[in-house]
Amino acid sequence: MSEVRSVSASASVDHRHIIAIDGPAAAGKSTVARLLADRLGAMLFDTGVLYRVVALIALHAGIEPSDADALAEIARHARIRVTPPSDFDGRLYDVWLDGQDVTWEIRQPEVGAIVSPVAEHHAVRAALLPLQRIIASSGRVVMVGRDIGTVVVPDAGLKVYLDATPEERARRRFREAQARGSNETFAEVLTETLTRDAIDSGRETAPLREAPDAVRINTDRQPIDAVVAAIESLARSQRMPNGEPVWPS
Ligand code: CDP
Repeated sequence: MSEVRSVSASASVDHRHIIAIDGPAAAGKSTVARLLADRLGAMLFDTGVLYRVVALIALHAGIEPSDADALAEIARHARIRVTPPSDFDGRLYDVWLDGQDVTWEIRQPEVGAIVSPVAEHHAVRAALLPLQRIIASSGRVVMVGRDIGTVVVPDAGLKVYLDATPEERARRRFREAQARGSNETFAEVLTETLTRDAIDSGRETAPLREAPDAVRINTDRQPIDAVVAAIESLARSQRMPNGEPVWPS
């Protein structure tokens, strides 16, 4: 991820090499995307990181999740970098804010509790859109979020909507939290998951929606490897206008 903020995306950029993965909280998007990106030799860009960092800064600065102007200002100026994972502690990438490693800080329940209200504001989303579009125009990228296939890159070459039942999603999130030593209960994790889904699906700007041309995959009883293999096979079957594969083996 770069810190460039002022270039606007060109309408003529070909997004055949973008794989958009959207879906509700803890549907397995990031884990699937990391493995898929590694197999395809693509970059991974998890857009949730942007909203989580804005929420973290707001928390530290005592800014209310309802203060759209102040949050948009944060979103415009935050110096966020995402780099390959530097540790084997379960992270899928490193997240840096002003040179500080905030990879785990942005996953804390305090951030989870306010990130959806923060992401609801049109001004915040508008401030974070140019950077996402620049990334989408930078080459082969697996992009993860809520509105990638519908708003950020509606012409992505492949769109996937990952879903699972709320209980299964909360179970996964609970196991992750326990592995990190968090003392959140399953009930708390389930409530947070459902609350975030409701806000993300109900907001006016760029709500969580399945794109009409997305491939929907339910990950409930599927091993991660099977989900990754299914998406990889879809990607490998895509062709350029000249018949060349979009994702050669
Ligand atoms: O990992 P998980 O699915 O739980 O969440 P995330 O991808 O880290 O996203 C955290 C929150 O950021 C979401 O619940 C949304 O409120 C917001 N978000 C969004 O609005 N649009 C995106 N493209 C990505 C995340």
